[in-house]
Amino acid sequence: MVLGKTLQDAINEQVKNELYSGYMYLAMAAYCEANNFPGAAKWMRMQAGEEQEHAMRLYDYVFDRGGRVTLQAIAQPPAEFKGLLDIFEQAYAHEQKVTGMINSLYAAAAKENDYATMSMLKWFIDEQVEEERNASQVVEMLKLAGTHIPAVMMLDGRLGARAE
Ligand code: FEO
Repeated sequence: MVLGKTLQDAINEQVKNELYSGYMYLAMAAYCEANNFPGAAKWMRMQAGEEQEHAMRLYDYVFDRGGRVTLQAIAQPPAEFKGLLDIFEQAYAHEQKVTGMINSLYAAAAKENDYATMSMLKWFIDEQVEEERNASQVVEMLKLAGTHIPAVMMLDGRLGARAE
């Protein structure tokens, strides 16, 4: 069954949203790089790569279903932040927003009885639980570290140990 036009448009929109997420994380990586947080920069850079993979997962799915991907303009991400805590708070808020987007996509697929799309989206629903948890855990740790510079630097080192 070929992907319906409404869902195709909605998935195309999400391809853009995932690419924007990657662009935003890359902007965060650039800020960290410029502000002597090499560990957080690595974490953010890896996250940007993950978002690219999320976009490609949707991209491939559209073609698997005989649809057509139409790439849209990606907005400019912010360049300036107030520090590491601000970055991770924004990342956490962003992931909560993305969860809402994925849930809306799932609801649209359910409305059209498109079980294949619902099944594909299950991966994203599970992934969002992880995405939110990862960001919120760092927010909590940064809050604990507060303005204690050695604690923040130690945390930056931990972020730099991210392997996947
Ligand atoms: Fe693609 Fe961070 O969710």
